[in-house]
Amino acid sequence: MSGDPSAVEVRGVVKRFAGNLALDDVSLVIPAGQLHAIIGPNGAGKSTLFGVIAGEHRPDRGTVWVAGRDVTRIAAHRRVRAVGVARAFQVARIFPEMSVRQNVAAAVIAANGSARQFWRVKPLRVASVVADEALERLSLVPVAGRPARALSQGDRKRLEIAMALVLRPRLLLLDEPTAGMSPEETAATVELIRGIWSLGGLTVMLTEHDMQVVFDLAQQLTVMDRGHVLCSGEPETIRGRDDVREIYLGRAHGAA
Ligand SMILES: Nc1ncnc2c1ncn2[C@@H]1O[C@H](COP(=O)(O)OP(=O)(O)OP(=O)(O)O)[C@@H](O)[C@H]1O
Ligand SMILES: [Mg+2]
Repeated sequence: MSGDPSAVEVRGVVKRFAGNLALDDVSLVIPAGQLHAIIGPNGAGKSTLFGVIAGEHRPDRGTVWVAGRDVTRIAAHRRVRAVGVARAFQVARIFPEMSVRQNVAAAVIAANGSARQFWRVKPLRVASVVADEALERLSLVPVAGRPARALSQGDRKRLEIAMALVLRPRLLLLDEPTAGMSPEETAATVELIRGIWSLGGLTVMLTEHDMQVVFDLAQQLTVMDRGHVLCSGEPETIRGRDDVREIYLGRAHGAA
């Protein structure tokens, strides 16, 4: 084999929550550098899959490799540094009373917490320079001084992306990055994600219910339903499949 290892390889992953089978023998491979969308109806297992890749959930069975390394037993906070995984959540996880800039600076400090030599230099100054770059890139400078709780839904999602980017990830997981956004905010976020990705060196996985966003952005899609991977492929191929259409029309749910 030549070239880079896959960005993500998931083999035979099973994840139960109190008897509820969220992932039922899930396998998939995502090549390095790809912009890949995971789609599927509510409860399909998309967020759980991200949790397993990021290390938030340990699978009951199966193996997860990131950048060629078996990370199945590596804890989430160590996975960031070990293989460069960063995740933005479906519901933004931020410190509501802190300003937008402080939130991003806190993420920078958390990301570098154990790199002692680095931080012996001027920790706070370095954190604020890195934070300001991220604020600039995510167009958050105008709201940088506001408490995070006062942000619009769109700004809040962008803040989460900024907090993920300061981890300098190789693999960025975005869980419904445009949820709750206006059409204008959605279009801006699509451009933003494309812009970040096109700088190179980054694999992006995203989940999304807005099919326009999916077809605008993704090079490849994986469709999930009730804990299974139904199919993977290029957007045009997936769009034409009857079984995918059926899932989205809800017909598949009544079936045994
Ligand atoms: N922490 C948890 N505890 C118990 N059950 C959970 C937990 N997280 C997910 N589940 C269950 O696992 C299944 C998959 O959920 P998941 O959130 O991964 O779906 P999803 O595809 O992300 O859905 P959505 O599109 O609504 O975000 C669902 O049945 C859900 O209720
Ligand atoms: Mg979800």
